[in-house]
Amino acid sequence: MDSAAFLLLAFVSTETLLQVWGTESLTALYGEIINIPCNDGAPAPEDLMFVKWKYEKDDGTPGDLLIKQGRNEQATVQATDDYAQRVSIDDQLNLLITQASLKDQKTFTCMVVSSSNLMEYPVSVAVYKKPSSVEIMDTTAVLLKDKPTTVGTCVAADANPAAMITWKKNGNPLVADGKAVLITPSIKLDPATGLSTTSSTLQYAASKEDAVAVFACMSTHKLTNQETDLKPFPIHYPTEKVSLQIMSKGPILEGDNMTLKCHADGNPPPSSFFFHIKGQKLLVENSDSYTLTDINRAAGGEYKCSLVDNEKMDASQSIFVSYIDLSLTPTGKVVKAEGDTFSVKVEKSASGDAKVSWTKNGKAMKEPVFSKLTYADAGVYVCEVSMTGLMRRQSFELVVEGKPVITSLTKHRADDANYKVLICEAAGVPEPNFMWSVNSTNEESSYTSGRATNKITVIPKLNLTVTCSVSNKLGEDIMTINVSSVFKEEKEKKGSQEESEDQAKLIVGVVAGLLIAAAIVGLIYWLYMKNSRQGSWKTGEKEVGTSEESKKLEENNHTV
Ligand SMILES: *[C@@H]1O[C@H](CO)[C@@H](O)[C@H](O)[C@H]1NC(C)=O
Ligand SMILES: *[C@@H]1O[C@H](CO)[C@@H](O)[C@H](O)[C@H]1NC(C)=O
Ligand SMILES: *[C@@H]1O[C@H](CO)[C@@H](O)[C@H](O)[C@H]1NC(C)=O
Ligand SMILES: *[C@@H]1O[C@H](CO)[C@@H](O)[C@H](O)[C@H]1NC(C)=O
Repeated sequence: MDSAAFLLLAFVSTETLLQVWGTESLTALYGEIINIPCNDGAPAPEDLMFVKWKYEKDDGTPGDLLIKQGRNEQATVQATDDYAQRVSIDDQLNLLITQASLKDQKTFTCMVVSSSNLMEYPVSVAVYKKPSSVEIMDTTAVLLKDKPTTVGTCVAADANPAAMITWKKNGNPLVADGKAVLITPSIKLDPATGLSTTSSTLQYAASKEDAVAVFACMSTHKLTNQETDLKPFPIHYPTEKVSLQIMSKGPILEGDNMTLKCHADGNPPPSSFFFHIKGQKLLVENSDSYTLTDINRAAGGEYKCSLVDNEKMDASQSIFVSYIDLSLTPTGKVVKAEGDTFSVKVEKSASGDAKVSWTKNGKAMKEPVFSKLTYADAGVYVCEVSMTGLMRRQSFELVVEGKPVITSLTKHRADDANYKVLICEAAGVPEPNFMWSVNSTNEESSYTSGRATNKITVIPKLNLTVTCSVSNKLGEDIMTINVSSVFKEEKEKKGSQEESEDQAKLIVGVVAGLLIAAAIVGLIYWLYMKNSRQGSWKTGEKEVGTSEESKKLEENNHTV
């Protein structure tokens, strides 16, 4: 067949003109079937004698693939190499090559021989393969500020043509500048397959703002574009500034706890610090704070903290401790005698302007000054010295004692009362006891600020001399008062105001009088009847009784 075709071709060549058309291009996919149309798929001429597919070998010589005579004839594979198993032709005279590989990137020519013509249609075949994967490898854990750090290596493996890799930050392409952005590209060719693996290593000098930056690798290929994102990296940078903070809301006061906090602006922050406290260097690990408890004024001064690995990186703070000293003399309970002299001494010193205030029994007052003590001076005195946030207070209780002295002893009588009210008033501390020389009722007493009052009610039947005596542990006092009987006045007062009562009594009297009169009449009648037999009256006894009664009445008639 081959020889027949050759002969046929030779025969045809002599008569017909060889025409070669411009080379078409075709792209096939790696590993799949290459389908190369003959003459762009145009129908074969009516006078077709045969079609032959051939290719151009690497050395430029033609290689036979197959030949097909007539439309309905079976094709004859002429290839003896690798193509023998892979080539075929379909009804449209398309050349089919299975298992496309990069070795198939050649020019295939369809030769159409008819009785009138010999046409050649060359087709240049390219075989493309998208990258099998796009990955970022060897990524870093952190980025360093201002120091180019390898972010990672982006690899687009086994592609044809080679994929192109670009790096992006926050969606914008990164352009290598030789300083902050360094990109090292490389392409490796697999000698067996001819496929290219593109890789690109990005080195990047970060700034603090890059802590949120998203780096991405972009693979660009004729068949597909792929982007792979990286999560933002923490940015590490050394400490440039150390600061020392005193954790206190207001002024630092004596007795406070004071916390020093050292802050370094590096990332990650240092985990340990040196604190320089009163000439001592203390290492504090796993903390940035140091607390001094219950500080006093001597704690004032300069405090410092520094990095452990670079003590030149330090910061200091001057601390001032506010204080108040208060010394009050006397304090506690002070017992003094009335009329004594008494003085109070206040000594205070404070780190600033302190306000002094006094209270007596809870009420504000000026600083107390005593000349001669009176009972009114007694009380609880509190001296308070205060400054912003700080206060000291001391107090004393002043007790002024004295033997009781009766200041007044008076008697009172309500208009119609048949009793008298006696009031005895005395000054003295401790509280005096009252003693009266008469029996009394309704005793009432009160005691405030050293002044005692005792009130009693008496019903004097006679003129009396009443004694009020007061006493406490320091002494006693006595006073007397003449109290006249209430009964005479009672009689004198009777009359106008108590008429109704008298009328009632009069009625009772009249009734009683009538009854008595009747009884007397009866008695007289009985005596008359009896005396009419004896003939005498007895009246002496009655006259004696009357004189005794009138005498008693006279004794009881007194005025107040
Ligand atoms: C100071 O700290 C101590 C112990 O840590 C605590 O008992 C005390 O109450 C603190 N004093 C003040 C004023 O906070
Ligand atoms: C007071 O009353 C009592 C009995 O009630 C009596 O024994 C006493 O003598 C009275 N004293 C005076 C001072 O009247
Ligand atoms: C009380 O009366 C007596 C005589 O009855 C008299 O000597 C005395 O001076 C009087 N006392 C007062 C305080 O009036
Ligand atoms: C009582 O005192 C009054 C004067 O205050 C006097 O007039 C009267 O006689 C006195 N009575 C007796 C019983 O002493």
